[in-house]
Amino acid sequence: MLVLGINGSPRKGGNTEILLDCALAGAKRAGAETLKINLGELNFSPCKSCAKAKKNGECIVIDDMQKIYSAVKNADGLILASPVYFGSISAQTKMLIDRFQCHWAAVYQHKTLKQQAERPGFFLCAEAGSQNSFFENSRFIVRNFFTTLNIKYFGGLLCTGLEAAAEVLKRKECLEKAEQEGFDLVRGYNEVHKV
Ligand SMILES: Cc1cc2nc3c(=O)[nH]c(=O)nc-3n(C[C@H](O)[C@H](O)[C@H](O)COP(=O)(O)O)c2cc1C
Repeated sequence: MLVLGINGSPRKGGNTEILLDCALAGAKRAGAETLKINLGELNFSPCKSCAKAKKNGECIVIDDMQKIYSAVKNADGLILASPVYFGSISAQTKMLIDRFQCHWAAVYQHKTLKQQAERPGFFLCAEAGSQNSFFENSRFIVRNFFTTLNIKYFGGLLCTGLEAAAEVLKRKECLEKAEQEGFDLVRGYNEVHKV
């Protein structure tokens, strides 16, 4: 099983990336291969609503999103991680999601693309405050995205009270929970697929 982790925070070594690394370590412990993508290191633009999706559901705009399309396609499981920005996911994470509009159009409008078999997905979220509604808002968007890709929402983890970069390193319970969630994601997949 290949688990893809996508870090939607532009802050390198920040809370989101640390939590994601823990989840990916858990996935590895359960026997999966892992791959991490930092959206902050990529060069891609927001959706232009050009309505020119390729038949295979990929966007016609050639930028770093092309790497993400193939990574998402090849993954057997996805862990999407984002900080809370103004009560929602980060702009980088939302940009990525919007760029899958072409996938939605190919599957549901043009019917030129069949969904891949169902895969598990997990959502990790870090915020400075303690507003559960911000997490609920973010989770709603992520679940919608997962549904578009036929990814089963396996669960989500919110870690609150994280303001400074890498502050989460002092929060052992968050690190351990993230690691365990990555482990469980793979174990759940293996049970379904009788691996
Ligand atoms: C543009 C911006 C907007 C933010 N908005 C919120 C917010 O609405 N609520 C909150 O609790 N934290 C907010 N934060 C704080 C981040 O969610 C918090 O610092 C988080 O730990 C950042 O994760 P990172 O270290 O991976 O970048 C915001 C931070 C930035 C840079």
